[in-house]
Amino acid sequence: MTNSLPHGGTLINRFEPDYDLSNIEKSVEIDEIALSDLELIGTGAYSPIEGFFTKEDYHSVVKDMRLSSEHVWSIPITLPLADDIANALTIGEKVKLTHEGQIYGVLMISDIFIPDKQLEATLVYQTDDENHPGVKNLYNRGNVYVGGEIKLVKRIERPLFEDHYLDPIETRKAFEDKGWKTVVGFQTRNPVHRAHEYIQKTALEIVDGLFLNPLVGATKSDDIPADVRMDSYKVLLEKYYPKERVSLAVFPAAMRYAGPREAIFHAMVRKNYGCTHFIVGRDHAGVGDYYGTYDAQKIFSNFTADELGITLLFFEHSFYCKTCGNMASAKTCPHGKEDHVILSGTKVREMLRNGEIPPATFSRKEVIEVLIEGLKKNEVYN
Ligand code: ADX
Repeated sequence: MTNSLPHGGTLINRFEPDYDLSNIEKSVEIDEIALSDLELIGTGAYSPIEGFFTKEDYHSVVKDMRLSSEHVWSIPITLPLADDIANALTIGEKVKLTHEGQIYGVLMISDIFIPDKQLEATLVYQTDDENHPGVKNLYNRGNVYVGGEIKLVKRIERPLFEDHYLDPIETRKAFEDKGWKTVVGFQTRNPVHRAHEYIQKTALEIVDGLFLNPLVGATKSDDIPADVRMDSYKVLLEKYYPKERVSLAVFPAAMRYAGPREAIFHAMVRKNYGCTHFIVGRDHAGVGDYYGTYDAQKIFSNFTADELGITLLFFEHSFYCKTCGNMASAKTCPHGKEDHVILSGTKVREMLRNGEIPPATFSRKEVIEVLIEGLKKNEVYN
């Protein structure tokens, strides 16, 4: 066996740069989240999805975590538009999808519907609290959802990540060329720290390759900017990882902060990139105290291994233990909390903002140096 099959069996390709736009009069401006979704549908990262959700897929995913085709899918991929814009559209017509004046895609409208956003929030995010960043985005976006198949006609330019901007078809080929039969995917939205490194390398002990796939789409404003995070990975890979066993590429999706539901979504998408395994650690894709530490692992028990088609590697909360003198978790370390160095991403951002240097037992010095440089460049820390 080589790489896993894409979700649904076939890698979708809806990128058609020469698509004839001449007879399409109407244009609709889409937001940054929809733009990244458009691109990820187009490149097959969201296989088997071929467009923005119609009512049928939307209800099915919100309530049952499955597409109407029965395939596992946990996050609605929607195109929300403001009422006045949606009112001017008709089922059956094609519209150009634009962002900041550029045409990126075409939508063949097959459905226009009004969602129950509170229900969506409660079922997908497990809360309707507007302070939750994913729920806030959900409520702030348009009130009418427009569904239908898309064509992607132009790629998003990401000059900062040019060398690490790979589509599923490219990562699959790269894994095959390297002779990797098993590949573990790693999602992250934070600068890399020792616990990340520990769980990645533990996984790498049992598979052929590690696919580091940091998310670089829209995140909440106090998360560390994607280019700084990517730099943190590059310095670490250079010095502490075996080059021939690691592949680094960006994941250009928006962060939803939907915890358990997003963990399933993250796993299905990495399967499309060619991963056979996927890491889910503590509070995956969580924010604040909205989710239990291991909820994002437990949720996978709703599905059979065949339905998922990717092997999950679950990790306990890990930390540096001063007495063991190494990274560990409650599964491997007998010592008490006083011996453990536990720092959250939030805590580290706070320390950096206050001019404090996080300890080497939390993060390697090369990473801290990159973060401090980032601190100087980005006002987010000020
Ligand atoms: S996430 O929002 O992308 O999940 P983050 O970048 O912090 O956030 O985490 C990336 C992955 O590492 C997730 O699977 C998360 O569960 C895991 N993880 C982060 N920190 C730890 C830790 N200390 N122990 C175990 N797993 C962790």
